Amino acid sequence: MSEQPATDPALSSLFDLAHQAAQNAYAPYSRFRVGAALRLASGEIVTGTNVENVSYGLTICAERSALVRAVSQFGPEIRIEAVAVANLNNAASSPCGACRQVLAEFIQTGAQVIFATPDGPRVMPFIELFPLAFEMKAK
Ligand code: THU
Repeated sequence: MSEQPATDPALSSLFDLAHQAAQNAYAPYSRFRVGAALRLASGEIVTGTNVENVSYGLTICAERSALVRAVSQFGPEIRIEAVAVANLNNAASSPCGACRQVLAEFIQTGAQVIFATPDGPRVMPFIELFPLAFEMKAK
């Protein structure tokens, strides 16, 4: 069975960091405050929050915010070995479809994702959250 309770202490602390990061969210329109934390293969941890915009579609999610920050800070060779997503609304928040595709670009094989559910944090392998990612293979 691939679903596991969030007992891995490293994942639990990554989730805590995501929850703390959500304090910095800019979400005046939805009031849904999200935080993400990425653990890189190098051991570095990078966090992000959602940043909304009055032109709603320009909002960036917490996961993509963290990813853009990670690449900007550590360069294009980064690999993500764990992802955490939390919110301050006591709601479920697994990464949205757009964020899954963007995370897939830098995800390491075997990466785990921990995210909020109404029953508490849930851990899933990234590949189960986002199988068959789009990729472009030149012929
Ligand atoms: N949001 C995220 O930050 N991550 C997701 O994966 C889904 C949604 C944000 C975007 C918006 O600011 C708010 O949650 C409500 O959709």
